Amino acid sequence: MQLSSNQLERFHRDGFLVIEGLFDRDETRRLRARLPALFAEDTPANIREKSSGEVRTAMGLHERDSLYGELVRDARLVEPAEQLSGEPVYVQQVKVNVKSAFSGEVWQWHYDFATHHSEDGVPEPHALNLHVFLDDVTEFNGPLYFIPGSHRHGPAPASLDTVTTSYPLWVVAPEHVAELVERGGIVSATGPAGTALVFGDTLVHASPNNLSPWDRPIFSVIYNPVSNALTRHQRPDHVHHRDTRPVRALHRRQGHGRRGNREPPRPLEAGRA
Ligand code: SIN
Ligand code: MN
Repeated sequence: MQLSSNQLERFHRDGFLVIEGLFDRDETRRLRARLPALFAEDTPANIREKSSGEVRTAMGLHERDSLYGELVRDARLVEPAEQLSGEPVYVQQVKVNVKSAFSGEVWQWHYDFATHHSEDGVPEPHALNLHVFLDDVTEFNGPLYFIPGSHRHGPAPASLDTVTTSYPLWVVAPEHVAELVERGGIVSATGPAGTALVFGDTLVHASPNNLSPWDRPIFSVIYNPVSNALTRHQRPDHVHHRDTRPVRALHRRQGHGRRGNREPPRPLEAGRA
């Protein structure tokens, strides 16, 4: 699947894309059904919320479950990443951030490259983060917030926050966030199950606590161009995979899924908040 010229233009302008209907409800239901068993596993790849102890993020899923193994090779994800990168990509990180009902905690304002560079020695901000909503994401259950255009203002200064949540993250200070928001505003990335997001390594983003009675499971795969591989190996493999061989796109059989690969997905502009 290739992104249209309009989608490419929007990606370069805003730093992200929201693509509604990339996956169908049957696919997201089957992926969601795998989660309780995966979350019940006793593994360091299941990282729990600081307060409630509920799973916050379950990593390395393509190595733990066959359906997620197929998902990281799905042409609807791999091909746009190759197209935007202009070269083969490897699977850097695979997870579901579930943001549980009532207890899912915040992701602070950050851009991913600050962590990828500082922790893993990734040379350039060329990795791409692709999300698939495994259930509906609304204004209530902790959607991602994006600052459009923030990727064009150069990487903001970042510092390591090991206190706010259970997951150490290089974060952007409020004064820099305020400057970026003055220029670009904030967009809330909401949509029905099956919606996909694509965003780059220097886009500033965050998400609030989930106060609602609805979980917010989002699948995320980070692809990194093979020529931009990690140079430091201090974090566990499930956080940044050591296998930097190119991922090969898997095309779905015809008739499987609602849209197949023949019909282009319908792009959706996220509403401004
Ligand atoms: C979230 O799951 O809300 C944040 C994910 C991210 O920072 O990529
Ligand atoms: Mn992030």
